[in-house]
Amino acid sequence: DTIHEFQDALLLWYNHHKRELPWRQDQDPYKVWVSEIMLQQTKVDTVIPYFYHFMNEFPTPEALAYAEEEKVMKAWEGLGYYSRVRNLQTAVKEVVEEYGGRVPEDRDAFSSLKGVGPYTSGAVLSIAYEKPEPAVDGNVMRVFSRIFNISDDIGKAKTRKRFESLVAPFLEEVKPSEFNQAVMELGALVCTPKSPGCLLCPVQSFCEARRAGTAEDLPVKAKK
Ligand code: ADE
Repeated sequence: DTIHEFQDALLLWYNHHKRELPWRQDQDPYKVWVSEIMLQQTKVDTVIPYFYHFMNEFPTPEALAYAEEEKVMKAWEGLGYYSRVRNLQTAVKEVVEEYGGRVPEDRDAFSSLKGVGPYTSGAVLSIAYEKPEPAVDGNVMRVFSRIFNISDDIGKAKTRKRFESLVAPFLEEVKPSEFNQAVMELGALVCTPKSPGCLLCPVQSFCEARRAGTAEDLPVKAKK
């Protein structure tokens, strides 16, 4: 069926074109978590050196939990949005105290930690634990708003939920870590905000917006 063909085309492309990124070396949930928090408001190229440094300083949940806050803030200096790292340290302390240092695999347990929203939870549980959880951020909404030619306002929480429901069936019969990262990679390398590379796109034949000529106008984000 169509979903299956879409998965095959996207995953084949991903396996040829994915970038070697430091957080893709293994599926350590702590590393995946730190990378996803860093990547939330910061570009990949900026994150890479910070990620290496952070992992050297705080290689495990225990190391981060017991580290002095000042040292942790120092390692984040320049990345901005400092509440991200304060929340991360708080959450990691809870992981050490309540879960023996093991990042919980259960969505409700993981989502209840400080700073862990629906995107972070989906990303970490799918990438580290192969759970079939959607990981819907702005990039993923851009890709799927174009695939389905959807002009809902992506600033609304309801829209993210709609995309989670649309993405869910695509996570069946694939490795969730691969599928979710393939969509992120497509959004970063091909299905870009401006001048999307539709001619090079592995899933162009599935794309409603390309057919309708609306790719450049999507996604829609209403002004506040
Ligand atoms: N952006 C957010 N998460 C990412 C990931 N795992 N790989 C690349 N870009 C990302």
